[in-house]
Order: sequence, then structure tokens, then C-alpha cells
Amino acid sequence: MPSHVIPTVQLGAGFIGQMHSLAMSRAAHSRRDVSVRPELMALADRDLELATEVADRYGWRRTTADWEEIVEPDGRLFVNAGPNDMHLAPTVAAAQAGLDVFCEKPLATTADEAHRLWQQVAATGVNHRCAFLHRFIPALQLARRIIRDGEIGTVLHFRSQFLLDMLGDGPLTWRFDRGLAGAGAVGDLGSHHIDVARFLVGEVTHVQASSRTWSADPTGAITDVNDDYFACVASLDQGATAVFEASRIAAAHSLTGRIEVDGTKGSISFDMERLNEIVVRKPQLGTTMRLATQAGDPGAGFELPVGIQGAHPIGWSDCFALQAYDVLALASGAIAESPGATFEDGYRVAEIVESIERSAASGERQAVGFRS
Ligand SMILES: NC(=O)c1ccc[n+]([C@@H]2O[C@H](COP(=O)([O-])OP(=O)(O)OC[C@H]3O[C@@H](n4cnc5c(N)ncnc54)[C@H](O)[C@@H]3O)[C@@H](O)[C@H]2O)c1
Repeated sequence: MPSHVIPTVQLGAGFIGQMHSLAMSRAAHSRRDVSVRPELMALADRDLELATEVADRYGWRRTTADWEEIVEPDGRLFVNAGPNDMHLAPTVAAAQAGLDVFCEKPLATTADEAHRLWQQVAATGVNHRCAFLHRFIPALQLARRIIRDGEIGTVLHFRSQFLLDMLGDGPLTWRFDRGLAGAGAVGDLGSHHIDVARFLVGEVTHVQASSRTWSADPTGAITDVNDDYFACVASLDQGATAVFEASRIAAAHSLTGRIEVDGTKGSISFDMERLNEIVVRKPQLGTTMRLATQAGDPGAGFELPVGIQGAHPIGWSDCFALQAYDVLALASGAIAESPGATFEDGYRVAEIVESIERSAASGERQAVGFRS
């Protein structure tokens, strides 16, 4: 099988920039369908000391504090792991230079900005993916397959909770600043599960929401702190109801993510802390736990073929390796379709996030309008 070498550049060496660096360095070994080899060409971060340390750890060849220096036509893939307000300009510049683009979520700080980002990138013809990681959790891919195969009948309800404890002792980070981040819990956490609802069931059409903010910046530097918590009752386009809840100030929750889908013939539930499993409930048949890593399942054959090590469980960082493999395989030209979210998905989620914010501010139910 020919090995596709993909010269890759990345903006951001922070938390998720380090995860993508790790994922890129593992991607070549994660699956065997297409042979991909990322060449870690250049890493940009305005904190050059951090960039250098991360580059040494993961093997990036060159570092710079200036992202414009890594947007070069000899690159094939641009990874944007910068903060939300750094998604638009660098990603458009990279696409216009002919690089495929893979950008962190939320796609932008506002729906307007996300729409511009999608439109300007789509006009260049490059591949674009938004990093809604949950699409690469094999158990959720299995849930999608079960739902599409009609095993749980017509879906009536989607329900999700995403809880994190993001409060440290020091000053608030950029995520709490509406100007830099956009929405808070809705954009940062809710966007993931809104995309999961769309991935598993259908598009969000109406929202009725409430949100609250408790956090305040002890330094006074951030004056417009975004939401810490939201809850939303929504409608999906195929007739199901959806409930989303997220908090970033839920003490001691490090990555609590619960997703449930109820249909006319059965129900599915998923818990982020049991990453390889989905629980399927059926009337009369009772409750079954299904692993997503058996032969033929979405998680089978990760790194090692099933049969040597058996169907081994995989972890959170493994899902990032699967996601990295996906954008590299797309950049190789060997595949044209993938489960990953496109920038259109990223834009649509941004529009839903803003509708939730409008509903929370007004107290009124909002219809979600999408631009083409
Ligand atoms: N998919 C996920 O599960 C997930 C998880 C965490 C974060 N994220 C997303 O990843 C993005 C980054 O989040 P993070 O947690 O890594 O933040 P972070 O603050 O840890 O890292 C951001 C990095 O960008 C650098 N930076 C900021 N402005 C820059 C500029 N103008 N030029 C060059 N470098 C610049 C900073 O120095 C920092 O190192 C956000 O969009 C966030 O929502 C996604």
C-alpha cells in the first residue's frame, strides 16, 4: 500500500495543541485502511518557549511565534489548535494557500464569524473538518449504526449532560471572556453534545433555554464573563425532543458526559467514563452492554488487528488519534468522505449555540435559522 506523506503545520501548543501533537504522532499507526505519515513541519505559538518544549516532545521540526510563517503552500494540512478568536483569519489564510484545514471547536466566536469561515474556506475547494471529537468515539459510532439500522425504532428523545470543573485558583482564562471565546458552557461544552445529537439523530430546529453565570474574574480584567451553565429543551427535525445540559463549574467532574437516546423499540445510553460501552435497553429483552471494539465494530482494529490482542478497550486520547488519522487520510486524497464534522456542521452548531443564548436572554422559544 502506498504511504501518503502529509506535511502538517499547526497553530497552538496549549492544552489541545499538545493533544493534537500526540495524536498526529500516533495517527500513522492507528488504522491500516490508508497508510498516512504526517510530517510535523512547523508549530506556531506566541509563547515560543512552550512551542519549543512541545516541539521537542512530539517532534515538530520548526517553531515560530508567528502563525503567518507556517502558512506555506508546501504544507498539506493546517491544524488550528488556537483559541476561538484565532480560528477565522489563520484558517482562511491556510485554505487560501491550498492547505486542507482542521480547526478546533467551536468553529468561531459567533455564528456570523463561523458562517464567514465556512463560506471562505469552502470557496477554496480544500477539505475542511471541525474538531467535534465525539464523532470519533467508537461507542458513539456504534450507537449511530444501531439507530440508523432501526434497532431502537423511531427516535423520540435525545438527552445529554456535559459536566466539567474548570475553575482553578487563579485568574479566569480566555474561555470565560465573551469577547475572546464567545459563549461559555453552551459554546465550549454544549457544542460537542449538540453536534452529537445532529450526528446521531437529526438537526436542531427549535430551542428553549436558560443559562446562568456565577464566575467573576478576581483581577477584574474580564468584565463580560460568559455562561457557566445552561439547560435547553429542543426539537429535532425528525420529530424527536432533545434536552441538553452543561456546566463548567460542577465540582470534581473531570469529564462527565452522559448521552441517552430513546426510541419506540428501545433505548441507548452512553457514559464518557465508560468510553467503550453503550447500554441498549429493549422491552422484554432487558438491558445489554455492547462493546464497540469487537470484530466488525467501529473501534475494532485500533493500532493492532483484532485477534492478536483481541478487541482491546481504547481511551480518550486514542479517539484523538482516530480523528487525526481521518484528517490525514482526507488530505492524502485516498478517501473523500469521513464521519468528521465539516465547517458547515461547525457553522450550524454555532447558529444553534446563538439561538440558545438568545432564548436564555429573552426567555422565549427560538426557531433556529440556518444560512446557506
Ligand atoms: N475538542 C476538544 O475536546 C477540545 C478540548 C479543549 C480545547 N478545545 C478547543 O481548542 C482550542 C484551544 O484550546 P486550549 O485549551 O488548547 O487553549 P490553551 O489556552 O491551552 O492554548 C491556546 C494556545 O494558543 C496560543 N495562542 C493564542 N493566541 C495566539 C496567537 N495570536 N498566535 C499564536 N499562538 C497563539 C496560546 O499561547 C496557547 O498556547 C479552543 O478552540 C478550544 O475550544 C477543544
